[in-house]
Amino acid sequence: MAESPSSSQPILKLRGVSKQFGAVQALTDIELDVHPGEVVALVGDNGAGKSTLVKVLAGVHQPTGGTIEFMGKPVTMDSPGRAIELGIATVFQDLALCENLDVVANLFLGQELSPWALDEVQMEVQAWTLLRELSARIPSVREPIASLSGGQRQTVAIARSLLTDPRIIMLDEPTAALGVAQTAEVLNLIERVRDRGLGVILISHNMEDVRAVADRIVVLRLGRNNGVFTAEDSNSDLISAITGATENAVSRRQARKLEEVGEAT
Ligand SMILES: Nc1ncnc2c1ncn2[C@@H]1O[C@H](COP(=O)(O)OP(=O)(O)O)[C@@H](O)[C@H]1O
Ligand SMILES: [Mg+2]
Repeated sequence: MAESPSSSQPILKLRGVSKQFGAVQALTDIELDVHPGEVVALVGDNGAGKSTLVKVLAGVHQPTGGTIEFMGKPVTMDSPGRAIELGIATVFQDLALCENLDVVANLFLGQELSPWALDEVQMEVQAWTLLRELSARIPSVREPIASLSGGQRQTVAIARSLLTDPRIIMLDEPTAALGVAQTAEVLNLIERVRDRGLGVILISHNMEDVRAVADRIVVLRLGRNNGVFTAEDSNSDLISAITGATENAVSRRQARKLEEVGEAT
């Protein structure tokens, strides 16, 4: 199991974070640190609490317990706008791009440079600069989103979130719908973002992707932390933490022992 890198102060620090929906305890006592220039993968089975945690960090849901520190200070994110203002950007799974608009329009949607006199030239220059910095393979920034591949769309969505100048970017299943080449492209982009010194939180079901880019792999199970791993740890340990196979193995062993004791007496 991995220790958090202690060389830098975490950008984001969660302690004891819980979230209850009525009788459902979706998150219990979550601990999470994200450092600058680090990719933290958040993995877990369906219902583990990944999306709930993302929504808490995006200001969509309010936690029912615990503390969130951002850049060393306790914060309350009572709206999505507040999270973005602080510097936590989220690329949700549906991407929320406008199919009929071109790349530039999508990048600046809702954040046009000067709202009463849209500076098209300036926006196009900025769009190209950003996409070039990210080594993004977009044929033209005047291409409508509808004509782009899944990987290119993901790139546009990630680039758009970078325009708010965040310190943390959360990506929810960014490779879920992508083929091999496009997945590689997006993983490459994630490394570029990390190289800019951002903290990246990557939610993914794909262990191969997670192992390829994550500096640390944080496992959630039934709404709780269930271990921190790195790409060096064995796949079976990681899978056991996700599925709870270890617990079952332990409890099976204990049950057997109890039976043996029972038989002996
Ligand atoms: N809005 C909600 N209302 C009630 N229960 C919810 C809500 N959102 C999530 N949950 C519950 O919280 C738990 C964690 O869900 P979720 O965060 O979606 O897990 P994951 O994304 O890891 O699959 C599940 O039991 C789910 O049913
Ligand atoms: Mg989910």
